[in-house]
Amino acid sequence: MKPINVGLLGIGTVGGGTFTVLRRNAEEIARRAGRPIRITVVADKNLDLARQMTEDRGQRTEEVRLTDDAFSVVADPEVDIVIELIGGYGVAKELVLKAIANGKHVVTANKALLATHGNEIFKAAQDKGVMVAFEAAVAGGIPIIKALREGLSANRIQWIAGIINGTTNFILSEMRDKGLSFDAVLKEAQRLGYAEADPTFDIEGVDAAHKITILSALAFGIPMQFDKAYIEGISKLDATDIRYAEQLGYRIKLLGITKRTAEGVELRVHPTLIPSKRLIANVEGAMNAVLVQGDAVGSTLYYGKGAGAEPTASAVIADLVDVTRMHTADPEHRVPHLAFQPDQLSDLPILPMDEVTTSYYLRLRVQDKPGVLADITRILADEQISIDAVIQKEPGEDEDQTDLILLTHQTREKRINAAIAKVEALPVVAGKVTRLRLEELG
Ligand code: NDP
Ligand code: HSE
Repeated sequence: MKPINVGLLGIGTVGGGTFTVLRRNAEEIARRAGRPIRITVVADKNLDLARQMTEDRGQRTEEVRLTDDAFSVVADPEVDIVIELIGGYGVAKELVLKAIANGKHVVTANKALLATHGNEIFKAAQDKGVMVAFEAAVAGGIPIIKALREGLSANRIQWIAGIINGTTNFILSEMRDKGLSFDAVLKEAQRLGYAEADPTFDIEGVDAAHKITILSALAFGIPMQFDKAYIEGISKLDATDIRYAEQLGYRIKLLGITKRTAEGVELRVHPTLIPSKRLIANVEGAMNAVLVQGDAVGSTLYYGKGAGAEPTASAVIADLVDVTRMHTADPEHRVPHLAFQPDQLSDLPILPMDEVTTSYYLRLRVQDKPGVLADITRILADEQISIDAVIQKEPGEDEDQTDLILLTHQTREKRINAAIAKVEALPVVAGKVTRLRLEELG
């Protein structure tokens, strides 16, 4: 059977993994796809790297053209599928749109590009009748896009909560387990190839927000709305809170959360307390996990490697197989890019963070004297916030201040913010109140 020809743009971590796995499992993959999948051309700025990555133990084994001109690949009439593994939204966007305009199918792992320009890219692909596949863009090797678009298509999805950034999960796990410093763990995550080129995207929650934006669009049939996501990373997280959370039976994870509510869709990323007894709370290191709640199926949990060369290549190649199988199908009969038919996307609003409903962990530094707790609980009661638990730590020797920790039941973010402002104004409260969100995920 005639092979399908692939042009690979970018042979770094994921591109290198894709080349290697495709070579190693070529026969098995061809049996699945129905015809061989052959990378005929590789473009990378670094030709030495491209040469090295495409050799097998120092030997050239395949006929692969190497070039530093990615634009020549998207214009190559011999190329059927373009894999974009350069990253970012500059040249990558131009290349993807040119590939589509030239009638090529596209496979990409670029969540930043899709979360910010996905609507334009999918529209261009639909007009041209080509596929844009992006399994590797969320949670690396975990087939979560496939699960949402196909496996769960009977369900009305209610919410998704995911550990979808390996770098931050690795940092939180190592800091908690080994007492290592934030900087040391970040360096290790970069060395292992988990972190983005700009690691602030990982640490500040931007990468997770790109991914939850994509999952939200697939779950609820809405356009990509990354600009409306609420984003808070882990850089301001205090080790004290990791410790107190643990004592209270919770773990802190950076979660991407999207929820359907009567008023609209919640779309948010922030450090979150979750009960330690939940499976997802025990996802450690660079591993990812996504919990999906559907009305028919209930909870389903997807776990695996969310980054790294071969785990991500696994998703890229699954897309290559899908595209190869559907290559000759009528575009109307392919799985829609965003799971719902393009003319059936809904305009459910994304809720501003003030309108989000969740529970809270509050840590306050207070004077250890009678009436303090009563003053604070009165403020919470005035805002109709119900308290779930209160813990007061013993003050240190010769200290007249102590830590007070409160867990609340669910309330609106604007209510907790109003209460915090009043609490901080009390003369018996020192400094700022630490506020973290808490999800039971039951
Ligand atoms: P890398 O930086 O390792 O690889 C990108 C490669 O593209 C580099 O070799 C780079 O060269 C090359 N490149 C940059 N600009 C051009 C250009 N104009 N023309 C040709 N080549 C170019 O990135 P990753 O492999 O880690 O990531 C690729 C994509 O996959 C990103 O979108 C990322 O977000 C996504 N992803 C990554 C995962 C991972 O585990 N690493 C997991 C899931 C998704 P140079 O280095 O010289 O700039
Ligand atoms: N930087 C990302 C992470 C890579 O740490 O999860 C996978 O998308």
